[in-house]
Amino acid sequence: MAASVVVVDHPLVKHKLTLMRRTDTSTANFRRLLAEISLLLGYEATRDLKLRDEPIETPVAPMVGAALDGKKIVLVGILRAGLGIVDGMLQLMPNARIGHVGMYRDPKTLEPVEYFYKVPTDLQDRDVLVCDPMLATGNSAVAAVSRIKKGSPASLKLVCLVACPEGVAAFQKGHPDVPIVTAAVDERLNDHGYIVPGLGDAGDRLFGTK
Ligand code: URA
Repeated sequence: MAASVVVVDHPLVKHKLTLMRRTDTSTANFRRLLAEISLLLGYEATRDLKLRDEPIETPVAPMVGAALDGKKIVLVGILRAGLGIVDGMLQLMPNARIGHVGMYRDPKTLEPVEYFYKVPTDLQDRDVLVCDPMLATGNSAVAAVSRIKKGSPASLKLVCLVACPEGVAAFQKGHPDVPIVTAAVDERLNDHGYIVPGLGDAGDRLFGTK
């Protein structure tokens, strides 16, 4: 059985995602909204982080508090739109380590080709959140996670903004052990590889390149 697909359908997330989808939303607002939603997705994606007891003194009494255990989490952005999610999550986890994976699609074979890969070297001791806003064909997310798995991370999750049934199925076929956290699962993928209704090209909207 495949790992979970958690759809974070909190009213604030739904409201902000609707604003992001609108054609007339400006680049500045799109960027801000992606960061805000990513913080909320990060909250959900980190729900099962391990804690340890931390004895402390409050101004009133000693107590045993809780602190995050182990090494800092790693946020891996799939270039380029994944950077928008990483930015938002950093507000929640300012000490996170950051990795980058760059993939492009070979025009002849249509297979993803890696052109950049830089992540912390000690992944085996760290939890990793792979960030990619649009889970469309799923090809780049599957390839990126395969590459990251070579470093044997302690745990892995995929965080996206909008998924579609085709992308979820492709990802779960490639990585049945990796949970997905997303703000929405839309209707379908169209013939051009765009999610319908989706929000268009997340990278272009985030960076204002079109
Ligand atoms: N990538 C995007 O940016 N948007 C889509 O709809 C699909 C892939």
